[in-house]
Amino acid sequence: MRVLHRVLQSLAVVSLVLVAASSLPAQEKKPFEPVVGQSGKDVVWVPTPFATVEKMLDMAKVTPQDFVMDLGSGDGRNIIGAAKRGAYGVGVEWNNDMVELSRRMAQEAGVADKAQFVQGDMYAADISKANVMAMFLLTENLDKLMPKFLDLKPSSRIVINGFSITGWNPDQTDRATGDCGSWCTVHLFYVPAKVGGTWQLGQGTLTVNQNFQKITGTLATGGNSTSIEGSLNGEAISFTAGGATYAGRVNGNAMSGEIKGGPGGKWSATKK
Ligand SMILES: C[S@@+](CC[C@H](N)C(=O)[O-])C[C@H]1O[C@@H](n2cnc3c(N)ncnc32)[C@H](O)[C@@H]1O
Repeated sequence: MRVLHRVLQSLAVVSLVLVAASSLPAQEKKPFEPVVGQSGKDVVWVPTPFATVEKMLDMAKVTPQDFVMDLGSGDGRNIIGAAKRGAYGVGVEWNNDMVELSRRMAQEAGVADKAQFVQGDMYAADISKANVMAMFLLTENLDKLMPKFLDLKPSSRIVINGFSITGWNPDQTDRATGDCGSWCTVHLFYVPAKVGGTWQLGQGTLTVNQNFQKITGTLATGGNSTSIEGSLNGEAISFTAGGATYAGRVNGNAMSGEIKGGPGGKWSATKK
């Protein structure tokens, strides 16, 4: 009888413990902690070192006027860094735990009003309003996204940790200093204005072939045709034709500027 009593007593204690454990408040659940190298939809998570984040934002010259986006935003550090500089930023991340983590981090940094995070597929994201992209993705991801990058407003800045975009030479490459481990190199690209096609330039016809920021083509006036070669830096254009250098700015279907050498003076062209 006494033995049975003891068994019942210990059973009662065990069930009390079980009831108490099952009613533990939700906040005592272990918080999500990301692991470097954890799988992601199209690329694993490896964080950009904070020194490199700052270098990327420096090279892109991020100011409060900017709208910064990160595709595959991980724990949100690029967007939170941009928001700390006063910019508005949106991160797109597939992993919902990472999205929630980045929202918490933005809250802790006091920038939740400027740093927003959405769960979604980076390939489906609307980036058309961004004028700065700050990312850490593989070349294969970047290559797939490249048409969207080229559709951004001319002179938008794209800064990338480490990886490059096939065929598109960076306008600037630099290295972060300090604690940046294996990820110190940053590439900066300016989205070039779209100038490929035929233009009326004075009495001449300017035919432009564009390969990212490089341009080649011809300037035909009267019976003469001269090869042109030049480059774009966002909306700024410069090319040589014969002995003259044409420098100016592109504004949609018009461009204009000054001629140095050759005939000299001003030039303007309109898209045919
Ligand atoms: C290399 S990490 C970069 C994280 C962050 N941008 C940084 O610089 O620290 C790439 C991130 O992309 C996310 N990712 C992978 N495929 C994705 C997709 N299709 N859409 C959105 N995010 C994706 C991963 O979950 C991971 O967090």
